[in-house]
Amino acid sequence: MPTAPDLYAVMGNPVAHSKSPQIHALFAAQTGQNLEYRAILVEPGQFATAARDFRAAGGKGLNITVPFKQDAWVFADILSARAERAGAVNTLIFDRSGVRGDNTDGLGLVRDLTVNHGYALSGRRILLLGAGGAARGVLQPLLLEKPEQVVIANRTAEKALELSMRFSDLGRVSGRGFAELVGRQFDLIIHATAAGLDHQAPQLPDEMLASGGWCYDLMYGDQPTAFMRWGQAQGAAQVMDGLGMLVEQAAQSFQLWRGVWPETQPVIAALRPR
Ligand code: ATR
Repeated sequence: MPTAPDLYAVMGNPVAHSKSPQIHALFAAQTGQNLEYRAILVEPGQFATAARDFRAAGGKGLNITVPFKQDAWVFADILSARAERAGAVNTLIFDRSGVRGDNTDGLGLVRDLTVNHGYALSGRRILLLGAGGAARGVLQPLLLEKPEQVVIANRTAEKALELSMRFSDLGRVSGRGFAELVGRQFDLIIHATAAGLDHQAPQLPDEMLASGGWCYDLMYGDQPTAFMRWGQAQGAAQVMDGLGMLVEQAAQSFQLWRGVWPETQPVIAALRPR
């Protein structure tokens, strides 16, 4: 008799648009893993209850998306060092030792840039736009690549400053408001604000992108995002959306759960709208 598949899910609100079920189904088919992966809509304030119920029903692990990554951080019994510092968890692993929490977002971004796009981060001047959960999740892996510096810029300057101080032992990192970027130049600008949810880009000064500079949006969609259009207008040598990062962070989660590495390139290609 065939054994029942192991159960995983992504929890978020909204969650219907999530590509994670498709990504993990492709990984499972590719690696011969017997698992089922669902998308579960969770009401605000209900994360811990939903996660507990899922585990009680035999669930082996979860991905967590907006707006529950901080709730998942609180829910975990044991945190990886990078999740601990990020203050956000995107992967929960349920096993005999308890509930383990990790954050694979930053590694997903770094792998997409360095492996898929062949872009070395060491020695680069990086501008990270935004100081919320998305920005926090990627800072440690970015700094570990030894860029020349990371400047965090945010609509609310104090939040950028505060965030930079939490990571200052890992490299050269500072925080400021958008207006204080005038006259500065960056090799790579990463967009991690929530403005894209309203199809907007932050109000940014012109001429910040160095010649040959790249722009990366953590968001993705079937059409170029507002920030990607801004990057194109600024003469970026390359503009990228976050689809590759999404698949790479999923691959890291899959490896944590199943102990095997899926190939990401065919999955990115399958998801890319033609
Ligand atoms: P997320 O987890 O997506 O990062 P969040 O933690 O609520 O969500 O943070 C939202 C981020 O997007 C913040 O950096 C926010 O700036 P403020 O700290 O000034 O609020 C930023 N943001 C949201 N809407 C924005 C807009 N229209 N223009 C610029 N920044 C915006």
